[in-house]
Amino acid sequence: MATHQQFNPARLVATHDVADGIRVFDIEPVDGLRPHAPGSHIDVEVLVDDRPQYRSFSLIDNAAETGVYRIAVKDRPDGHGGSRYLWSLVAGDRLRVSDPKDRFALSYRAPEALLVAGGIGITPLYGMARALNRAGRRLRLLYTARSREEMAFVDELAAELGDRLELFVTGAGQRLDPGAIINDLAADAELYICGPQSLREAFLGAWLARGRPAERFRFETFASSGRLPDTAFNVRVANRDLDFTVAQDQSLLDALRAHGVDDVLYDCEHGECGLCTIDVLEHSGELDHRDVFYSPRQKTTDTRMCACVSRVHNGHLVIDTSRHAVDTGRPD
Ligand code: FES
Repeated sequence: MATHQQFNPARLVATHDVADGIRVFDIEPVDGLRPHAPGSHIDVEVLVDDRPQYRSFSLIDNAAETGVYRIAVKDRPDGHGGSRYLWSLVAGDRLRVSDPKDRFALSYRAPEALLVAGGIGITPLYGMARALNRAGRRLRLLYTARSREEMAFVDELAAELGDRLELFVTGAGQRLDPGAIINDLAADAELYICGPQSLREAFLGAWLARGRPAERFRFETFASSGRLPDTAFNVRVANRDLDFTVAQDQSLLDALRAHGVDDVLYDCEHGECGLCTIDVLEHSGELDHRDVFYSPRQKTTDTRMCACVSRVHNGHLVIDTSRHAVDTGRPD
């Protein structure tokens, strides 16, 4: 059961491509726009195998200025089908979207902000960087991707930020050095990051190793990609005497719901809130913990996992969904 799911009818007004594999979608909700803060997102209903699923996308411009909800979607041919569905849409098509939600709140309290974007993770940081700049705050935006062609919004950001925008093209050997970058920050600076799990963990590890407060490390997740490729795997739900297979393009949480297992709570579906955690009684293969709820140390025990994003690679799972413990996540 979800704690919320409210979707409103909307219309796709226009699309345009802004980088290799990144397309902007302008969406107009039928019953009007809601105000939102920089870094906010909307949930969009997508159809995968004719079944409704939901994906979250950051709003990349202020709807009050553009008159639409503007999102950017990375094409993922090997993904779970949500981006393929959206890329198949054309102007005039109908869809359903949630109101904006702000779970990546921008604070103006710190005198200095470091923003780190990896790939499509630029989407929430684009608006945040511009908002901080217009508020006169000191900031740096570090943006990394495999190639320059895969970077979106660079010209707009460069025009506004100048040399406070720094690009790191990994295909050209340009790597971020989290420790050195954090060492240069003011003691009370805040860090905002959105990108692949490996990038986030590298910065989080360097941040905590330097004694910086966890509450000043702010992150957003997107389409949680893991360390290992997606593979299908078998699941036994011990408390239900139920066996099924989770398809390569399906999450464990979606498979549980499809098989009528309705006692798993969920909310964010991004590995953040910890509501969907379940007991792992046994497994083969390697557990790929893709959440940001548990700390790296907690993940090594392999006794609990977030069903919305985490999965097993080349193995099987035996789980128990009946225990609704209130876990404590976060870095330790
Ligand atoms: S639903 Fe929030 S962590 Fe899975």
